[in-house]
Amino acid sequence: MGPVTSYSTAAVDSVLVFIVAVSMVFLLGLTIAMVVFVVRYGRRRHPRPEEVRQSIALEVTWTLIPTVLVLAMFFYGYAGFTLIRSPPADAMVINVLGRMWDWSFEYENGKQSDLLRVPVGEPVRLALHSADVLHSFFVPSFRIKEDVVPGQENFLWFKPEGLGTADVFCAEYCGTEHAFMMSTIEVMEEAAFEEWYATLDRLEDHPAYQVMDDVGCFFCHTVDGTIEGGPTFKGLFGKARRVVRDGEEVEVMVDRDYLRRSILDPAAEVAVDWDADMPEDAAEDLTAEQLEEVLDFLEIVR
Ligand code: CUA
Repeated sequence: MGPVTSYSTAAVDSVLVFIVAVSMVFLLGLTIAMVVFVVRYGRRRHPRPEEVRQSIALEVTWTLIPTVLVLAMFFYGYAGFTLIRSPPADAMVINVLGRMWDWSFEYENGKQSDLLRVPVGEPVRLALHSADVLHSFFVPSFRIKEDVVPGQENFLWFKPEGLGTADVFCAEYCGTEHAFMMSTIEVMEEAAFEEWYATLDRLEDHPAYQVMDDVGCFFCHTVDGTIEGGPTFKGLFGKARRVVRDGEEVEVMVDRDYLRRSILDPAAEVAVDWDADMPEDAAEDLTAEQLEEVLDFLEIVR
């Protein structure tokens, strides 16, 4: 599957082709005129200069042509801009959260994903939010890009044409891992999308959620990225983090083993910048099976 495009791809490209074509014509024309003038009116061929009087016709021509061209470029560009800034009212709304340094998506039914899955041919409106600093949501093959600003909602919309994938980048320097802040838009058949969309994997429906709620995990650890008493569970799994083990700072990978150790013996490895104040007996009431479910849960809190 190759990169897919959006309605906006052609709109942007045609303006670009138009401007490049006009520029090429002028570049060629002016270069030829320059060479002709140099040869024809050089001192050797034309030793005695003459005075040239003004020509109204010439003045009007060279004022009119650029004016018409600039206006054409403006209206052509403005038409494309209006299209890009006018999402249809019936577009599917998807919330986009940019954070240092990844993208996550939340659908109208609460479904969350770190891949942007959309049905083919359907207009999609992205509501852009930032959890921390300035980012920029950029989909090169759709020719759309918009700043993602903390404390403010921006939007973008697109209507994918054809099945396949499109790359998403962050186009605003946002820290050391800015270059890795990428995601993918996957354009699916309507039926396949509906099936994926309908399998509700809201975190609250996970078997471990109630258990963890009873134990009290969520007093300190959130699943939405906000910070309470302890580190958030969101996006924790699979990341490297620095911990203090036996008084020494080491880097560990947050995997099932690390999380199991952290739950069973919270003080053994404490992430730097955090106090070791998680209750030692936090996991006391968990059966071995429940503990594994909790680990399953932590793995999917993206
Ligand atoms: Cu986010 Cu660069």
